[in-house]
Amino acid sequence: MLRLQKIALTQFKNYPHFELGFSQQVVGICGPNGVGKTSLLDAIHYLGLTKSYFSRHDEQVVQAGCQGFRIEGHLQLGQTQTLITCILRENGKKEFAANGTPYERLSAHIGKFPVVVIAPDDAVLITGDSKERRSFIDQLLSQIDAEYLQHLIRYNRYLLQRNALLKDPAVATPSNRSLLEVLDEQLATEGQFIYESRCAFLTSFIPQVIEEYRSIASSDESPLRETISISYQSHLQQEPLHSLLRHSRQADLGAQRTTKGTHRDDLVVTMHQQPFRQLASQGQRKSLLFALKLAQAAVIKQKKGFAPLLLLDDVFEKLDDNRIKNLLQKVGSEAGSQVFITDTSADRLDRQLSNLGIPFQLVSL
Ligand SMILES: Nc1ncnc2c1ncn2[C@@H]1O[C@H](COP(=O)(O)OP(=O)(O)OP(=O)(O)O)[C@@H](O)[C@H]1O
Ligand SMILES: [Mg+2]
Repeated sequence: MLRLQKIALTQFKNYPHFELGFSQQVVGICGPNGVGKTSLLDAIHYLGLTKSYFSRHDEQVVQAGCQGFRIEGHLQLGQTQTLITCILRENGKKEFAANGTPYERLSAHIGKFPVVVIAPDDAVLITGDSKERRSFIDQLLSQIDAEYLQHLIRYNRYLLQRNALLKDPAVATPSNRSLLEVLDEQLATEGQFIYESRCAFLTSFIPQVIEEYRSIASSDESPLRETISISYQSHLQQEPLHSLLRHSRQADLGAQRTTKGTHRDDLVVTMHQQPFRQLASQGQRKSLLFALKLAQAAVIKQKKGFAPLLLLDDVFEKLDDNRIKNLLQKVGSEAGSQVFITDTSADRLDRQLSNLGIPFQLVSL
């Protein structure tokens, strides 16, 4: 079992200095708007994934008017305790250490203490463009397969180089042409690996998501009315990336970017054979979001042998009581994760967690 026992924050968002201990598997965090509930979850996210879930740049989470921040977390996995330290130095350099030993590369930490977040803005995963769904899959695969992350990093680097070359007015020179050949070769190797990893993973993941959706959306009394289906779409289903790049070379030179590849993959969701994002109600979208995230947690648990930390930010809005009950039941007892749940209403949180019938800790900020 993975447990966060204690966290200490310095100059992190609205916290000048703050320490909190966690004694239970389920932790409710309540308080009015702006008190720092989401910020606390974000600090936990840093401990697992070395970065913010909500802010693109580390500087944005440094307390206004200060320089640098520090997050410390005491994590327990089985009998082993680990002190994780994340420091953003005044010069903007981020340092990460486990029990005082610094990591050479931040990516080496990813997957050690997995974290799954469900937050209101995650709705873009359903309603937004394909980039959102790709980064969901990438983040998930990176947490369970360190090799995948390295291939992805290289793919993105070659893609940037190839796109820069396609924009270069001197692209037609013989030396640039041969550079393009080399980049195509490298991009194709990495892209093919990514495609095959995504295929293998999604073959079992998609049915899991559909099953999770079914169990969140169905109630004891009424059978499920919605049927959804999810499919993986990739240019690489037509032909290998190597020949795709060769065939699209002219088009790419015209467009000045790489038009074919795994950076254009998508997950397409339909309900009653129509696009889910157009047809679904807000509650249905939210249910699908939870299904994706719960399936993510389940996969991590399968691969790692222990469940990730679950961070649920403001999840009660827009869900009917039945769906809340199903969701909490799943995260609280079945998933085996330590769960952190925020809500503005202490009463509602207390009531929902009490209904679960398992011990919980309520923190008022
Ligand atoms: N870099 C920063 N420096 C100082 N304060 C910040 C920084 N970033 C965010 N804040 C502030 O931190 C406070 C807490 O924000 P947070 O999003 O954690 O609130 P919350 O408790 O989740 O509120 P809500 O219920 O509205 O979601 C806010 O007042 C926000 O403006
Ligand atoms: Mg919040």
